[in-house]
Amino acid sequence: MLDIPKPLRLGVNVDHVATLRNARGGVHPSPVAAALLAIRAGADGITAHLREDRRHIRDDDITAIREAIMAPLNFEMAATDEMIAIALDTKPNAACIVPERREEVTTEGGLAVVGNEDRLTDLLMPLKEAGIRLSLFIEANEADIDSAKQIGADIVELHTGNYCNDLSKGRAELERIRHAAAYGANLGIEIHAGHGLGFDTVGPIAAIPEIEELNIGHFLIGESLFCGLEAAITEMRQKMQSSRYHNKLGY
Ligand code: PXP
Repeated sequence: MLDIPKPLRLGVNVDHVATLRNARGGVHPSPVAAALLAIRAGADGITAHLREDRRHIRDDDITAIREAIMAPLNFEMAATDEMIAIALDTKPNAACIVPERREEVTTEGGLAVVGNEDRLTDLLMPLKEAGIRLSLFIEANEADIDSAKQIGADIVELHTGNYCNDLSKGRAELERIRHAAAYGANLGIEIHAGHGLGFDTVGPIAAIPEIEELNIGHFLIGESLFCGLEAAITEMRQKMQSSRYHNKLGY
């Protein structure tokens, strides 16, 4: 029987629409309008990261996006009491827990899960109890996946930043991601991936059969300056789909 690959969803991260808006302090361009356009262009969901310093997305953006879109909202957040209270109030479909340091330009590494299982379980259980899917943004390694399982994470999102940013390590990183995706899926955890993905790097990640969702922001928002957001999303989707189905069905 033909082995049909799992569908691969695209979550579009609209943080950097807010970065641009905040440069002038007004209301344009609107992350909510971008979220609606992204869904129209074929995104399966919207991702937004409310950082402690509110450098891009703000509290009112999260509420407005939640109200405006029917598609799932993936709320990226640090594991702090403040963010947990906001998540419980907003009720996104998923909360993706990321490490956060003020001085970093973007999320530079995965969450330190090993050794923090008890603290994270205590902090994060209210999210699960409220029906919010719990996702942990981690480096691709077995130990963090084991700990994620112990904590009760529904999803792990594998950090693709090193694979995308350092070509000299790309092949080894890709192997690590492939291995971790298979390992996590075998434990019953849903596998997502993201960070730094663009047209040139998405193919090999999309071909990993256990990965069910990619979250992509910076490249899509940047590329939309040249070709528009809808066209950028359409092209990304095509690359994702052709890589996944070509790999499996051989066309
Ligand atoms: N996934 C997570 C957990 C992230 O923190 C980010 C960046 O906010 C992304 C995906 C998207 O990364 P990029 O903007 O580089 O596509």
